[in-house]
Amino acid sequence: MKKQPGWALPDLKAAQVRTTQTVNISHEQFAIPSEWHHLGIGKRFYLRTYGCQANERDGETLAGILELMGFTQSDDMEQSDLILLNTCAVRKNAEEKVLGELGSLKRLRKQNPNLIFGMCGCMAQEEDIVQLLLEKYPHVELIFGTHNLHHLPKLLHQVMEKHEKTIEVFSKEGDIVENLPAKRFGTHKAWVNIMYGCDKFCTYCIVPYTRGKERSRTMEDIIDELNTLKAQGYKEVTLLGQNVNSYGKDLHIEGGFAKLLTETAKTGIPRIRFTTSHPWDFTQDMIDVIAKYDNIMPFIHLPVQSGDSDILKIMGRRYTIEQYKNLFDAIKTKIPNCAFSTDIIVGFPNETQTQFQHTLDIVDYCRFDNAYTFIYSPREGTPAANMQDNVDFQTKQERLAQLNEKVNHYAWENNQKYKDAIVSVLVDGPSKKNPNIYCGYTETNKLVNFERMDAKCGDIIQVKIVACKTWSLDGIQVKEK
Ligand code: 5AD
Ligand code: SF4
Repeated sequence: MKKQPGWALPDLKAAQVRTTQTVNISHEQFAIPSEWHHLGIGKRFYLRTYGCQANERDGETLAGILELMGFTQSDDMEQSDLILLNTCAVRKNAEEKVLGELGSLKRLRKQNPNLIFGMCGCMAQEEDIVQLLLEKYPHVELIFGTHNLHHLPKLLHQVMEKHEKTIEVFSKEGDIVENLPAKRFGTHKAWVNIMYGCDKFCTYCIVPYTRGKERSRTMEDIIDELNTLKAQGYKEVTLLGQNVNSYGKDLHIEGGFAKLLTETAKTGIPRIRFTTSHPWDFTQDMIDVIAKYDNIMPFIHLPVQSGDSDILKIMGRRYTIEQYKNLFDAIKTKIPNCAFSTDIIVGFPNETQTQFQHTLDIVDYCRFDNAYTFIYSPREGTPAANMQDNVDFQTKQERLAQLNEKVNHYAWENNQKYKDAIVSVLVDGPSKKNPNIYCGYTETNKLVNFERMDAKCGDIIQVKIVACKTWSLDGIQVKEK
């Protein structure tokens, strides 16, 4: 389909550009022009979010905007007037899921000819995906990216009232728009963006292209949001960024992430978490702050990606495996009860058996509590996608299985330490499988299923652990003295 006037299509080359231009931070009050207020009245939207927490948080903004326009959220696609897929581009299988879903949803159009299909999020930032949608998925009439959530009212007006296929994807570096509405999906746990984008350009990763330049929110804006959440009764916040440890570098904030963590701890919110950490920017100051404050949780997601320094170099990770081990040891020394999770990619182009063995070795060294493991997936436009690869897919699958076996073993082994311990648990509510059993998380991020006495969602209670499984602990609520 030919490009129509008014469309803004993604451009990966433009998305790669980084300038020294200062980021525009808008504090304008968000308002929907009165002529668009009625657009959602009596209409329902269905929102499905894929991928990471940044996307989850974007989903809250989208839902907030839609509800301001009069829409109500529905969990029934069949009954909805707008179906919005908020997508992830990090691996091909995530994309295939979305495309499969879009294909199978087409039938709903027959039941409701006014139904609008929209795609947003990271996939919408990719040239080849938008081309594919134009050619093979003509029923998708609304496409917008990660930089312009705040334009949703205008885009919906265009597609719903003017009946125009609407595509607005910006590939610029990105601004910051404060004061957007949000419908928080959690009642006692909240996500808080501290920065957007990524400038690391790891050679396998599409994120710097889909989410733009690394840009921090001001400390004042973040602390204001945290204080509001605290006043609303939130018990846990997770500070979000692709590389939280480089927070504030762009704004030249003295003390950077360590300072932000300190100020966050001082708000008195009972549980503070953060993700994701890049080992390269993790300083001793940050470790000291995490150790100092009881309300900063002793759990760190510290992606290693590979256990081999040569592969790490080709990945553009900027640390050697010795430096990773030193950082890991420094955290463990200062925070002995700290739990760790990591991300690992197997089958990076030309990974040798010895290099893969080094990945198994780092898992033996760190004995992670959890690891998210992936087979390398080439991403169009990234440097690694152009590398020749001599490793066949079956070998990659075998490596993944071998790695997972080791990961599971250490997850199980770490959990055994909790037998008979009394742990503090933030209660999420009844478990999905059994409404009589409640669940929640320990400070170290272990899932606990427990028999409750009087615990309610959002309480922080004491639980005695009676059984330790690989991915969860079983316990009984104990009375506090
Ligand atoms: N292939 C496989 N895994 C990837 N990740 C990022 N890009 C790719 C890719 N091209 C993984 C990394 C990252 C996590 C979010 O996803 O491990 O930390
Ligand atoms: Fe997926 Fe990365 Fe986009 Fe998050 S930032 S949705 S992980 S591609």
